[in-house]
Amino acid sequence: MLVFDKKAELTEYLTQQRQTGKLIGFVPTMGALHQGHLSLIEASLSQTDLTVCSIFVNPTQFNNPQDLEKYPRTLEKDRELLEKAGCQVLFCPGQQEMYPNVSYTNFSFGLLETVMEGYFRPGHFHGVGLVVSKLFHIVQPNLAFFGQKDLQQCRIIEQLAKDLFFNVSVVVVPTMREADGLAMSSRNVRLQPGERKEAAILYKVLQESANRLLAGEGVQEIKKAAERTLTNTTTGVRLEYFCIADGGTLQPVKDVQQHKQLALCVAGYVGEVRLIDNLLLEL
Ligand code: PAF
Repeated sequence: MLVFDKKAELTEYLTQQRQTGKLIGFVPTMGALHQGHLSLIEASLSQTDLTVCSIFVNPTQFNNPQDLEKYPRTLEKDRELLEKAGCQVLFCPGQQEMYPNVSYTNFSFGLLETVMEGYFRPGHFHGVGLVVSKLFHIVQPNLAFFGQKDLQQCRIIEQLAKDLFFNVSVVVVPTMREADGLAMSSRNVRLQPGERKEAAILYKVLQESANRLLAGEGVQEIKKAAERTLTNTTTGVRLEYFCIADGGTLQPVKDVQQHKQLALCVAGYVGEVRLIDNLLLEL
């Protein structure tokens, strides 16, 4: 695996590769890689000729400084995992390489970010938009791979690519789960053993709610029941939101009949760790 930390060197290398007709796949990450990231690498390897993974813990997308500080950094282990997975190129720039000057550009994604993560983490998607735009300019991938766990991020990046004419197809890869259903996340390692068990309730409630929707129960009723379960103090969850939204626009749904795809989304703290998850339901 080739490793670059300078954008100019990576760009030069990728220009040569592109000239030989290679299709470039890109997996942007913040490191602390797990099986979920590796499934993105796998998807890229199977659909493109050259897979580039980036590892950069992007400060502008953390609205909580403690979260940034505590974000796990495991570069050596990540390198080994990527090498084993067959990734061909790793880009791991430093802070100065990605943010050589103060940025004045501001990203705002309208209705797509007034809900859920955008609402609870103000400024988060500005930071995501900024860094992903920079990375897309550097790598110029044909396909870019993102995990469905961050569904709102996926929708925002699809919109960003469309609005800014990035010549890239955004591929959304299904969430990888632990045996008890917990969505894989770099944050899971911060859960204490008891909390790790409690965290499985998030997926359980998503599944139960999806089944109730499919059985024809009303949206408000299901939402209330899910909120009741998740705010019950015995679950150990501090719920931020449970939403039943349109799968494309992510706006809350009133009448299921009007939608082709629904997204059931949840976010909450288990102990000190903020977790998110979602289920997509085709109607
Ligand atoms: O999903 C992530 O890990 C990050 O938000 C991303 C897309 C790498 C941007 O920093």
